[in-house]
Amino acid sequence: MSVQKEIKKITTHTLLKMKAAGEKISMITAYDYSFARLFDDAGIDVVLVGDSASNVMAGHETTVPITLDQMIYHAQCVVRGINRSLVVVDLPFGSYQSNSDIALASAIRIMKESGGHSIKLEGGEEVLESIQRIVSAGIPVMGHLGLTPQSIYKFGTYNVRAKEETEAAKLKKDALLLEEAGCYAIVLEKIPASLAAEVSASLTIPTIGIGAGSGCNGQVLVMHDMLGISNMFKPRFLRQYLNLQEQIHTAVTQYISDVKSGDFPSEKESY
Ligand code: KIV
Repeated sequence: MSVQKEIKKITTHTLLKMKAAGEKISMITAYDYSFARLFDDAGIDVVLVGDSASNVMAGHETTVPITLDQMIYHAQCVVRGINRSLVVVDLPFGSYQSNSDIALASAIRIMKESGGHSIKLEGGEEVLESIQRIVSAGIPVMGHLGLTPQSIYKFGTYNVRAKEETEAAKLKKDALLLEEAGCYAIVLEKIPASLAAEVSASLTIPTIGIGAGSGCNGQVLVMHDMLGISNMFKPRFLRQYLNLQEQIHTAVTQYISDVKSGDFPSEKESY
Protein backbone atom coordinates (compact mmCIF):
# COMPACT_ATOMS: atom_id res chain seq x y z
CA MET A 1 0.00 0.00 0.00
CA SER A 2 1.41 3.38 -0.89
CA VAL A 3 0.89 6.19 1.58
CA GLN A 4 0.68 9.47 -0.26
CA LYS A 5 1.14 12.70 1.66
CA GLU A 6 -1.78 15.00 0.96
CA ILE A 7 -0.65 18.27 -0.56
CA LYS A 8 -2.60 21.32 0.52
CA LYS A 9 -2.87 23.31 -2.67
CA ILE A 10 -2.90 27.10 -2.59
CA THR A 11 -6.13 28.54 -3.99
CA THR A 12 -7.45 32.05 -4.38
CA HIS A 13 -9.39 31.42 -1.15
CA THR A 14 -6.14 30.56 0.65
CA LEU A 15 -4.80 33.99 -0.30
CA LEU A 16 -7.88 35.72 1.10
CA LYS A 17 -7.52 33.75 4.34
CA MET A 18 -3.83 34.61 4.50
CA LYS A 19 -4.63 38.31 4.33
CA ALA A 20 -7.30 37.95 7.01
CA ALA A 21 -4.80 36.11 9.24
CA GLY A 22 -2.04 38.65 8.60
CA GLU A 23 0.15 36.09 6.82
CA LYS A 24 2.22 37.53 3.96
CA ILE A 25 1.95 36.04 0.46
CA SER A 26 5.10 35.10 -1.49
CA MET A 27 4.99 35.26 -5.28
CA ILE A 28 7.69 34.84 -7.94
CA THR A 29 7.67 34.66 -11.73
CA ALA A 30 8.54 31.50 -13.67
CA TYR A 31 8.40 30.67 -17.34
CA ASP A 32 9.45 27.02 -17.59
CA TYR A 33 9.05 23.58 -15.99
CA SER A 34 12.41 23.33 -14.18
CA PHE A 35 12.27 26.63 -12.31
CA ALA A 36 8.56 26.23 -11.57
CA ARG A 37 9.37 22.90 -9.92
CA LEU A 38 12.18 24.40 -7.84
CA PHE A 39 9.98 27.28 -6.64
CA ASP A 40 7.03 24.99 -5.87
CA ASP A 41 9.35 22.65 -3.89
CA ALA A 42 10.69 25.65 -1.96
CA GLY A 43 7.13 26.45 -0.85
CA ILE A 44 6.31 29.58 -2.84
CA ASP A 45 2.61 30.52 -2.56
CA VAL A 46 2.04 31.90 -6.06
CA VAL A 47 3.91 31.39 -9.33
CA LEU A 48 3.26 34.11 -11.89
CA VAL A 49 3.77 33.30 -15.55
CA GLY A 50 4.42 36.97 -16.21
CA ASP A 51 4.47 38.68 -19.57
CA SER A 52 7.93 39.74 -18.38
CA ALA A 53 8.76 36.55 -20.35
CA SER A 54 8.83 39.00 -23.25
CA ASN A 55 11.89 40.67 -21.64
CA VAL A 56 13.73 37.92 -19.81
CA MET A 57 12.98 34.92 -22.03
CA ALA A 58 12.60 36.47 -25.49
CA GLY A 59 14.94 39.47 -25.10
CA HIS A 60 12.41 42.13 -26.13
CA GLU A 61 12.76 45.63 -24.73
CA THR A 62 9.14 45.72 -23.49
CA THR A 63 6.29 43.34 -22.65
CA VAL A 64 4.31 44.56 -25.66
CA PRO A 65 5.39 42.01 -28.32
CA ILE A 66 4.67 38.72 -26.50
CA THR A 67 1.65 36.86 -27.94
CA LEU A 68 -1.17 34.88 -26.34
CA ASP A 69 0.16 31.66 -27.95
CA GLN A 70 3.61 32.31 -26.44
CA MET A 71 2.12 32.98 -22.99
CA ILE A 72 0.13 29.75 -23.23
CA TYR A 73 3.32 27.83 -24.11
CA HIS A 74 5.20 29.24 -21.08
CA ALA A 75 2.20 28.55 -18.82
CA GLN A 76 1.92 24.93 -20.02
CA CYS A 77 5.60 24.38 -19.13
CA VAL A 78 5.18 25.98 -15.69
CA VAL A 79 2.01 24.04 -14.82
CA ARG A 80 3.85 20.72 -15.38
CA GLY A 81 6.29 21.68 -12.59
CA ILE A 82 3.66 22.61 -9.99
CA ASN A 83 2.17 20.50 -7.19
CA ARG A 84 1.07 23.05 -4.65
CA SER A 85 1.42 26.69 -5.72
CA LEU A 86 -1.27 28.80 -7.36
CA VAL A 87 -0.37 29.50 -11.02
CA VAL A 88 -1.35 32.92 -12.36
CA VAL A 89 -0.94 33.68 -16.06
CA ASP A 90 -0.70 37.18 -17.56
CA LEU A 91 -3.03 38.14 -20.39
CA PRO A 92 -0.57 39.75 -22.81
CA PHE A 93 -0.95 43.14 -24.48
CA GLY A 94 -3.53 43.04 -27.28
CA SER A 95 -5.36 40.00 -25.95
CA TYR A 96 -7.94 41.91 -23.85
CA GLN A 97 -7.88 45.68 -24.43
CA SER A 98 -10.14 45.78 -27.54
CA ASN A 99 -13.39 44.62 -25.91
CA SER A 100 -14.76 42.24 -23.30
CA ASP A 101 -15.62 39.50 -25.85
CA ILE A 102 -11.95 39.29 -26.86
CA ALA A 103 -10.83 39.49 -23.23
CA LEU A 104 -13.10 36.62 -22.21
CA ALA A 105 -12.02 34.49 -25.19
CA SER A 106 -8.33 35.06 -24.32
CA ALA A 107 -8.88 34.18 -20.65
CA ILE A 108 -10.74 30.99 -21.63
CA ARG A 109 -7.90 29.98 -23.97
CA ILE A 110 -5.36 30.40 -21.15
CA MET A 111 -7.42 28.31 -18.73
CA LYS A 112 -8.25 25.53 -21.22
CA GLU A 113 -4.92 25.27 -23.01
CA SER A 114 -2.39 25.90 -20.22
CA GLY A 115 -3.98 24.45 -17.09
CA GLY A 116 -3.17 27.66 -15.17
CA HIS A 117 -5.40 28.51 -12.21
CA SER A 118 -6.04 32.21 -12.78
CA ILE A 119 -5.31 35.09 -15.11
CA LYS A 120 -3.88 38.55 -14.41
CA LEU A 121 -4.52 41.69 -16.40
CA GLU A 122 -3.44 45.32 -16.16
CA GLY A 123 -5.65 48.37 -15.64
CA GLY A 124 -8.55 49.80 -13.66
CA GLU A 125 -11.90 51.24 -14.70
CA GLU A 126 -11.02 50.80 -18.41
CA VAL A 127 -11.01 46.99 -18.12
CA LEU A 128 -13.80 46.60 -15.56
CA GLU A 129 -16.38 45.10 -17.92
CA SER A 130 -13.81 42.51 -19.07
CA ILE A 131 -12.99 41.59 -15.46
CA GLN A 132 -16.68 41.17 -14.61
CA ARG A 133 -17.27 38.89 -17.61
CA ILE A 134 -14.15 36.79 -16.97
CA VAL A 135 -15.07 36.38 -13.29
CA SER A 136 -18.68 35.50 -14.29
CA ALA A 137 -17.27 32.74 -16.49
CA GLY A 138 -15.67 31.21 -13.38
CA ILE A 139 -12.12 32.39 -14.01
CA PRO A 140 -10.29 34.00 -11.06
CA VAL A 141 -8.79 37.39 -11.93
CA MET A 142 -5.79 39.12 -10.35
CA GLY A 143 -5.65 42.86 -11.08
CA HIS A 144 -2.54 44.99 -11.65
CA LEU A 145 -2.36 48.74 -10.91
CA GLY A 146 0.34 51.41 -10.65
CA LEU A 147 3.16 50.93 -13.13
CA THR A 148 1.52 48.75 -15.76
CA PRO A 149 4.34 47.85 -18.18
CA GLN A 150 2.00 47.13 -21.12
CA SER A 151 1.30 50.91 -21.17
CA ILE A 152 4.98 51.89 -21.28
CA TYR A 153 4.55 53.89 -24.48
CA LYS A 154 1.81 55.94 -22.78
CA PHE A 155 3.88 56.50 -19.58
CA GLY A 156 7.18 57.08 -21.42
CA THR A 157 9.28 55.86 -18.45
CA TYR A 158 9.39 53.09 -15.83
CA ASN A 159 9.44 55.71 -13.02
CA VAL A 160 7.35 55.47 -9.83
CA ARG A 161 3.64 56.04 -10.57
CA ALA A 162 0.87 57.83 -8.62
CA LYS A 163 3.11 60.32 -6.85
CA GLU A 164 0.67 63.11 -7.68
CA GLU A 165 -2.71 63.35 -5.98
CA THR A 166 -4.84 62.94 -9.15
CA GLU A 167 -3.19 59.67 -10.17
CA ALA A 168 -3.15 58.43 -6.55
CA ALA A 169 -6.90 59.17 -6.23
CA LYS A 170 -7.62 57.26 -9.47
CA LEU A 171 -5.56 54.32 -8.25
CA LYS A 172 -7.44 54.18 -4.92
CA LYS A 173 -10.78 54.29 -6.78
CA ASP A 174 -9.61 51.65 -9.30
CA ALA A 175 -8.54 49.30 -6.50
CA LEU A 176 -12.04 49.45 -4.96
CA LEU A 177 -13.65 48.94 -8.38
CA LEU A 178 -11.47 45.88 -9.05
CA GLU A 179 -12.44 44.38 -5.70
CA GLU A 180 -16.13 45.06 -6.43
CA ALA A 181 -15.78 43.54 -9.91
CA GLY A 182 -14.60 40.28 -8.32
CA CYS A 183 -10.77 40.34 -8.44
CA TYR A 184 -9.33 38.11 -5.69
CA ALA A 185 -6.01 40.03 -5.46
CA ILE A 186 -4.26 43.05 -6.96
CA VAL A 187 -0.60 43.58 -7.88
CA LEU A 188 0.58 47.10 -6.98
CA GLU A 189 3.69 47.98 -8.97
CA LYS A 190 6.12 50.82 -8.26
CA ILE A 191 3.96 53.25 -6.29
CA PRO A 192 4.75 55.12 -3.03
CA ALA A 193 4.76 52.80 0.01
CA SER A 194 2.29 55.02 1.90
CA LEU A 195 -0.25 54.84 -0.95
CA ALA A 196 0.16 51.04 -1.25
CA ALA A 197 -0.37 50.66 2.51
CA GLU A 198 -3.51 52.83 2.36
CA VAL A 199 -4.92 50.85 -0.60
CA SER A 200 -4.10 47.54 1.11
CA ALA A 201 -5.92 48.62 4.26
CA SER A 202 -8.97 49.74 2.25
CA LEU A 203 -9.47 46.30 0.64
CA THR A 204 -10.58 42.87 1.85
CA ILE A 205 -8.65 41.18 -0.98
CA PRO A 206 -4.85 40.99 -0.75
CA THR A 207 -2.41 43.31 -2.51
CA ILE A 208 0.89 41.97 -3.80
CA GLY A 209 3.57 44.59 -4.16
CA ILE A 210 6.59 45.05 -6.39
CA GLY A 211 8.36 48.27 -5.50
CA ALA A 212 5.35 49.22 -3.37
CA GLY A 213 6.74 48.86 0.16
CA SER A 214 6.02 46.62 3.11
CA GLY A 215 2.38 47.62 3.64
CA CYS A 216 1.24 45.22 0.89
CA ASN A 217 -0.12 41.81 1.83
CA GLY A 218 2.51 40.02 -0.23
CA GLN A 219 5.51 40.58 -2.49
CA VAL A 220 6.44 39.52 -6.01
CA LEU A 221 9.78 39.61 -7.82
CA VAL A 222 10.87 38.61 -11.31
CA MET A 223 12.99 35.45 -10.92
CA HIS A 224 15.79 36.65 -13.21
CA ASP A 225 16.20 39.80 -11.11
CA MET A 226 16.13 38.18 -7.66
CA LEU A 227 18.44 35.33 -8.72
CA GLY A 228 20.86 37.72 -10.43
CA ILE A 229 20.61 35.98 -13.81
CA SER A 230 20.72 39.38 -15.43
CA ASN A 231 22.66 42.12 -13.67
CA MET A 232 21.48 44.85 -16.03
CA PHE A 233 18.31 45.69 -14.07
CA LYS A 234 18.93 46.87 -10.50
CA PRO A 235 16.09 49.07 -9.31
CA ARG A 236 16.03 50.22 -5.68
CA PHE A 237 13.15 47.85 -4.80
CA LEU A 238 15.05 44.74 -5.88
CA ARG A 239 16.65 42.44 -3.31
CA GLN A 240 19.06 40.16 -5.20
CA TYR A 241 19.44 36.79 -3.42
CA LEU A 242 22.03 35.23 -5.76
CA ASN A 243 24.50 36.35 -8.37
CA LEU A 244 23.84 33.58 -10.88
CA GLN A 245 25.24 35.59 -13.78
CA GLU A 246 28.67 35.54 -12.15
CA GLN A 247 28.40 31.90 -11.03
CA ILE A 248 27.23 30.74 -14.47
CA HIS A 249 30.02 32.72 -16.17
CA THR A 250 32.63 31.09 -13.89
CA ALA A 251 31.17 27.59 -14.43
CA VAL A 252 30.92 27.89 -18.21
CA THR A 253 34.40 29.40 -18.67
CA GLN A 254 35.77 26.51 -16.55
CA TYR A 255 33.87 23.99 -18.72
CA ILE A 256 35.22 25.57 -21.93
CA SER A 257 38.74 25.42 -20.54
CA ASP A 258 38.31 21.74 -19.45
CA VAL A 259 37.04 20.78 -22.93
CA LYS A 260 39.85 22.65 -24.71
CA SER A 261 42.55 21.17 -22.48
CA GLY A 262 41.19 17.63 -22.75
CA ASP A 263 40.65 17.48 -18.97
CA PHE A 264 36.94 16.73 -19.60
CA PRO A 265 35.81 13.99 -19.90
CA SER A 266 38.08 11.95 -17.62
CA GLU A 267 38.21 8.15 -17.58
CA LYS A 268 35.66 8.12 -14.75
CA GLU A 269 33.30 10.20 -16.87
CA SER A 270 33.58 7.78 -19.83
CA TYR A 271 32.10 4.30 -20.59
O1 KIV B 1 5.07 40.17 -15.85
C1 KIV B 1 5.49 40.27 -14.68
O2 KIV B 1 6.55 39.76 -14.32
C2 KIV B 1 4.67 41.02 -13.74
C3 KIV B 1 5.28 41.32 -12.39
C4 KIV B 1 6.25 42.41 -12.51
C5 KIV B 1 4.25 41.57 -11.38
O3 KIV B 1 3.58 41.40 -14.04
